[in-house]
Amino acid sequence: MNAPPIRLGEWHQAYLYGMGTVLILSGALWLLFHYFVRIPGDFGPTLHPLEPWFLAIHGISAAGLLIGFGSVMPGHVRRAWRAARNRVTGSIFFGVMLALTVSGYLLYYIGSETARSFLSIFHWVVGFSLPALAGWHIWRGRVWRHITMAENRARASALRSGAQASAVRSGAQASALRHKAESAASEEPTAGQALPQSNAKGIRVVGQSSDP
Ligand code: HEM
Ligand code: HEM
Repeated sequence: MNAPPIRLGEWHQAYLYGMGTVLILSGALWLLFHYFVRIPGDFGPTLHPLEPWFLAIHGISAAGLLIGFGSVMPGHVRRAWRAARNRVTGSIFFGVMLALTVSGYLLYYIGSETARSFLSIFHWVVGFSLPALAGWHIWRGRVWRHITMAENRARASALRSGAQASAVRSGAQASALRHKAESAASEEPTAGQALPQSNAKGIRVVGQSSDP
């Protein structure tokens, strides 16, 4: 079976953009609530009850985006890489996705507070760069698409003009042949000379024996 094409389908794109948006919003809301929102509790200001929900939504949408990440490998990434299209931004985007995945899951499993605080800052700083990187990758991808289309058009027109040139060459050969045949036909056939005959294309040709 053929691998899927480089260009992603509408639903595929919608899924990736949708998951990405939920992921960033949930991460941003968690940050906002974690650092700036407190509600009064029995023992003083306490965390907002929505905060753990944002992290839960973030964890679920992270898994959703990772499914999307995997789904672009066999067609999109493989084919674009082989065609040497958009490799630089593609590799950077790929690397950033990988860094977010590793740091995100380390945040989930690592207990040490020092490591967590470092990873947390790394994770969300890199996370906020994701939309800009995605925009850069998509924009460069479009530029590459136009370059490839222009190259294909140039190749097709070169092929067409090559075909025309060879048609002109064969036309010239045919007319030389016709000219030769006609000048032979204008001479009176002598006894034993073959008469000019028409070939399948209607070009009059002279038999081998009488051709001077
Ligand atoms: C491939 C993309 C991403 C993956 C796989 C991912 C994964 C995760 C995971 C597994 C956690 C830990 C959840 C928990 O402790 O229950 C986490 C936490 C977090 N993520 Fe992401 N994430 C991604 C992208 C982002 C982005 C784009 C942002 C942007 C704001 C972001 C912001 C955060 C924040 C603020 C936290 C909480 C950090 C902390 O606990 O100190 N993440 N992420
Ligand atoms: C080395 C890795 C990658 C390469 C070489 C690459 C290459 C490309 C190319 C050539 C395009 C333009 C397609 C066209 O318009 O004809 C593109 C667009 C796009 N890429 Fe990538 N890509 C890579 C990684 C990724 C990853 C990991 C994701 C997502 C998780 C992704 C998501 C997209 C999206 C959403 C578009 C815009 C929609 C489209 O044009 O199909 N790419 N990429």
